[in-house]
Parts: sequence; structure tokens; C-alpha cells
Amino acid sequence: MSGEGWIPVCDAADVPCDGVRRFDHGARSFAIYNLGGRFFATDGHCTHERQHLEDGTVMDGIIECPLHMGQFDIETGEALAGPVCIDLETFEIRNESGRLYLRL
Ligand code: FES
Repeated sequence: MSGEGWIPVCDAADVPCDGVRRFDHGARSFAIYNLGGRFFATDGHCTHERQHLEDGTVMDGIIECPLHMGQFDIETGEALAGPVCIDLETFEIRNESGRLYLRL
């Protein structure tokens, strides 16, 4: 897959089940999630104080920031629990034959 803003990320198998993995592209950094075989992508940095979410905790479709325990809905990016109040940007992601692609 190429064009239309799709960029290769990694193999789907490289994202742990119910876990998160960091992906950097140019000046941007993303968090890639595997929720029981469904994949999602958000901006990699918490909207509170820019802590990267790669070390956060994934639980029941929520990512908890490791610094101050703010929480976001992984699928929608919605800020759910303080101190975060600004939603995370989300991105389309596709699994093509076991390879993940993210749309910028
Ligand atoms: S940096 Fe994420 S909750 Fe503060």
C-alpha cells in the first residue's frame, strides 16, 4: 500500500495484544494499539504534559498516561479522566496481510 498518505508502521505481530507500541515518523510520534486484534493509532504524546504514551497502561480500551494517570479512550481519543482535558488526535490504521499502515 502506498500513496494517499498511508505510511508503513510495522508488522501487526509486533504490537502486543492489549498493549501499545511507539512509532516515530519524521518529527511526529504515534502510539499504536492492539485491542484484541483490532488496531488503533493516536498521537504518541499525552495532551497534558507531553509524556509519551508508549509506557502507559492499556486496560479495557483505555490508555492511562504513566506520568499523572490521565486516561483517554483509545478508539476515539476522548479525554476521560483528569488531569487531561484535551482529546488525543487519532489516525486511521489498516492491517494489510499482517502489515500495519497509518494514514496521516
Ligand atoms: S502528562 Fe499525561 S496525565 Fe500528565
